[in-house]
Amino acid sequence: MVSSAPFMTSRFYVTTPIYYVNDVPHLGHAYTSVAADAFRRYNLLRGRETRMLTGTDEHGLKIARAAEEANMTPLAFADRISVRFRSAWPELLVEPDDFIRTTEERHTSRVQELWKRIEARGDLYLGTYEDWYCVGCELYKTEKELLPGNLCPIHLQPVEKLQEETYFFRLSKYEKPLLDLYAKRPEFVLPETRRNEVVSFVEGGLKDLSVSRTSFTWGIPVPGNPKHVMFVWFDALANYWTTLGDEGDPLRRFWPKKGNGARAVHIVGKDILRFHTVYWPAFLLAAGFGEDELPSQVFAHGFLTIDGQKMGKSVRNAVDPLRLARELGPDVVRYQLLRAIAFGQDGDFDHAAMLERYNADLGKNLGNLLQRTLGLVSKLGEGTVSQVPHAELDTDLVGETLAAAESLAAEQWERFEPHRALETTWSISGLANQYVDRAAPWAAAKKGDSARVRVILASLLEVLGRLSVMIWPAMPNKSNAMRAQLGLPPLAPSVGLETWPPFGPPYRSDRVATAEALFPTYDRDETNALLAKLVPKVDAETAKKSDALDEKTKTSAAIAGSPPITYDTLASVDLRVGVILSCDKVPKKDKLYRLSVDLGEEAPRQIVAGLALSFTPEALVGRRVIVVANLAPRDFGKGLVSNGMLLATGPSEALDLATVTGDAKPGMRLN
Ligand code: MSP
Repeated sequence: MVSSAPFMTSRFYVTTPIYYVNDVPHLGHAYTSVAADAFRRYNLLRGRETRMLTGTDEHGLKIARAAEEANMTPLAFADRISVRFRSAWPELLVEPDDFIRTTEERHTSRVQELWKRIEARGDLYLGTYEDWYCVGCELYKTEKELLPGNLCPIHLQPVEKLQEETYFFRLSKYEKPLLDLYAKRPEFVLPETRRNEVVSFVEGGLKDLSVSRTSFTWGIPVPGNPKHVMFVWFDALANYWTTLGDEGDPLRRFWPKKGNGARAVHIVGKDILRFHTVYWPAFLLAAGFGEDELPSQVFAHGFLTIDGQKMGKSVRNAVDPLRLARELGPDVVRYQLLRAIAFGQDGDFDHAAMLERYNADLGKNLGNLLQRTLGLVSKLGEGTVSQVPHAELDTDLVGETLAAAESLAAEQWERFEPHRALETTWSISGLANQYVDRAAPWAAAKKGDSARVRVILASLLEVLGRLSVMIWPAMPNKSNAMRAQLGLPPLAPSVGLETWPPFGPPYRSDRVATAEALFPTYDRDETNALLAKLVPKVDAETAKKSDALDEKTKTSAAIAGSPPITYDTLASVDLRVGVILSCDKVPKKDKLYRLSVDLGEEAPRQIVAGLALSFTPEALVGRRVIVVANLAPRDFGKGLVSNGMLLATGPSEALDLATVTGDAKPGMRLN
């Protein structure tokens, strides 16, 4: 039997982060959602009552601005994107029990209730706040945290100075209670390395947190002071609790309370760990929740790269998880996400490795075992194998090794190690393949030992039946397809019924059916054709637009792609030193600035440049720049003409301007 002592839970509540609606579902989102769904399914197999929650995070300045850019109201904008998340998940066999939008009344009213509870207990007070604000993070940043040029270290975008009246949450008061919590419940933050980070952050001291805004209105109004809207993270984090209804709602049984057997687990990316392990428990404690009424665990997974490239916008747009699922089947994408990347660490989603793994693990290992066994049954068992009592199965296969592997895989699922649990599962398949060769049922058949043939085939069918259960959390459709070939009913796990270890009523191995290969392997040509179709082609031009493409890749792509030019061509480019005298925003163009640049000529030149995502006007005035001075004038419309171009490198959100050191005068030529 599986030792489930440390995990005595009868209810398992798992959540994903709620996704911002300023982006469409990408592989990073799919990763979190698939993992959460696999944990849900594993817990279902264990006979637990399960609940999975996901949804969309729709308030805040970031969303308001994205809506404005799209010329829509924030709600209409959120409607449009939220539905894309909602409809994406079933395509990846992710089946949440609830999908929350933070603009729904059932959420907003309960967030206000939570706010009032905290206010009544004295942990919210009115004050004034001034600091740098990053719209990407929806957070104030201290000067210390910023990169040179006042860039947010996470988004590499310029932060803005904001000053406003705000409600503060007395976070400082929770320093000690939080440290006590981490000490008493070391499993609250997982993996362990992440816990250490959180502990040292809190040990470094907590300042009260600004939790309301007056500078925009797209948020949940603060009860009693509607000039303020709530800090979007206050609103968002609360979703895990608001969706469980009011006091007395039966769904509240999923929220931990002393002795109710509920385990609530938040699966999050490492980037949002602090919100979940510091702010969220502090909000709950402040609202009067007891220590045993906090979430049970927050597990932070790592970040994915795709084919070795950071998931900048251009890369992630090129890899649509839904397209992958349509092309390869959702089970294969799920398997790759769960098996190839150690959960909790950063990892790479490599298309070529995915197809190799598909051939090896799915085609040649498990798929082969199934086909071989079914082939033998049809040949040696004449299509059926009559029941063999469990006690008579071959202990060489259905013995202690198998039981130990099943226990181990279960423990690995419990510890949120899907990569390991699947490795263990596949080791069983590998052993069973070896067993076929060792047991050689064809030899027994030759000798006319039909009893032995039956035992061997029944033992293999037994293991395949068990494997069909063990792969279900990761590959639910393939599991059932496999079961159909084995003559087993589809899995229908139910509360109170342990389907793990996966033995149960004797398998109806007399109904097996040879059918198409479950995982037909791809040969070299097919693999190449698939790769050509699936692997994103991010050329140098697109990469330039990407916010986070690997610098090295970009440089080599550009160098490799540039044809040689003659010396004369080079000499025909008139590069001059310029000094920026003034800088204004161009109305309705978020990226553009109108600059006045001194090139040592009679009058300064007007140059229009796309610098606004990287610099504030103040950061530019006085800077020495390199200007392409003989570029033909470019008309941006409405009389706005640019007479030259500035040289710069990097993505438009984090540009680096080319300059000269020393004291070259405006107008000096570069040779
Ligand atoms: N809205 C907040 C979460 C609020 S939860 C109360 C948010 N949303 S998000 O859409 O930006 O990100 C959601 C999740 O996607 C995060 O867990 C984040 O880590 C994950 N990922 C985004 N890019 C990712 C990768 N490249 N790799 C893995 N996961 C990534 O944050």
